[in-house]
Amino acid sequence: MSGLEVNKILASIIFAVLIVTLIGHFGDLVINIEHHDEKETAYKIDVEETESTKGSIAKKEEVIEPIAALLASASMENGEKLFKKCATCHNYEKGGANKVGPQLWNLINRPKANVDGFAYSKALAEFGGEWTYEELAEFLYKPKKYIKGTKMNFAGIKKVKDRANIVYFLRAQSDNPIPLP
Ligand code: HEC
Repeated sequence: MSGLEVNKILASIIFAVLIVTLIGHFGDLVINIEHHDEKETAYKIDVEETESTKGSIAKKEEVIEPIAALLASASMENGEKLFKKCATCHNYEKGGANKVGPQLWNLINRPKANVDGFAYSKALAEFGGEWTYEELAEFLYKPKKYIKGTKMNFAGIKKVKDRANIVYFLRAQSDNPIPLP
């Protein structure tokens, strides 16, 4: 055997090994892709499951519709009319006195239980946070459910549109109304 032939044989062996290795890797690649796909599908099913579980829990808990989308088209006039429900217990004017309930001037984004000289219930005093648009609307849906132990004796406003109107009206009772969400 000449040196040249040995070289040829060696070269073809190396070539064969190379091909086998390449095919092996390619196989891995295909398997990897498939494997990845399987993972993806499994993941998707997981998400759907949690979503639907969430849905059923939310239904039991009662879904309170947000007012954000309704504020842009809310009615000041209706809001003012609806405030009559609150007016026995609340003033909304600047410098207005506290009545059975605290005055509500400049209410949006005001810290909760923040009116000087008003004796808040422990429940509201310790609740924390500010009266954002949505928190206020949720509180007004069923005050006693939202803040258990509040002394605000008011059943609540069921219709989301009414809540949007009343919040919209209260927003205007300020020197610098907070921008709509
Ligand atoms: C029967 C009287 C009564 C009526 C009616 C009433 N409230 Fe109240 N409200 C209260 C009392 C009392 C408190 C203080 C609650 C506490 O300390 O737990 C309060 C607290 C509040 C607070 C919290 C204020 C703060 O400083 O943190 C808001 C907001 C509020 N009321 C809005 C309204 C709105 C809006 C209406 C009408 C849809 C209304 N309330 C109707 C008696 C009333």
